[in-house]
Amino acid sequence: MNKNELVSLALSARENSYSPYSGFKVGAALLTKNGKVYKGCNIENGAFSPTNCAERTAVFTAIADGEKEFKAIAVVGGADEIKNFCPPCGVCRQVLSEFCKEDFEIHLFNGEEIKTFTLGELLPESFNL
Ligand code: THU
Repeated sequence: MNKNELVSLALSARENSYSPYSGFKVGAALLTKNGKVYKGCNIENGAFSPTNCAERTAVFTAIADGEKEFKAIAVVGGADEIKNFCPPCGVCRQVLSEFCKEDFEIHLFNGEEIKTFTLGELLPESFNL
């Protein structure tokens, strides 16, 4: 599974986005160390705060399925077409840091190119018990 394939899976996950309030559709594809992929989309709620981001949907689905070792995630987001990079929000970075090491890769796609960061770059000096 290379980063292009993971981005394609994130784009397909985005098709299931439930985002009637923001109209902003996000998809994520999370790759485990043993090669499985868990997809996630954002799921909004009329009370707003229960909204779940695409990245956390993917992480929680994987954890619930017994997976705990992750290599990379691809994230794509946008209102209509994908035109900009959609980096994970602070809450999602913190959730990723619960399960992933600093070298975990985060692939972002803006419709043209893939930019890759490590979790250590996006969440330096993270808090973990
Ligand atoms: N969203 C994500 O799914 N992931 C992020 O990292 C940032 C934001 C979603 C939440 C909400 O449904 C919409 O994007 C607009 O904030």
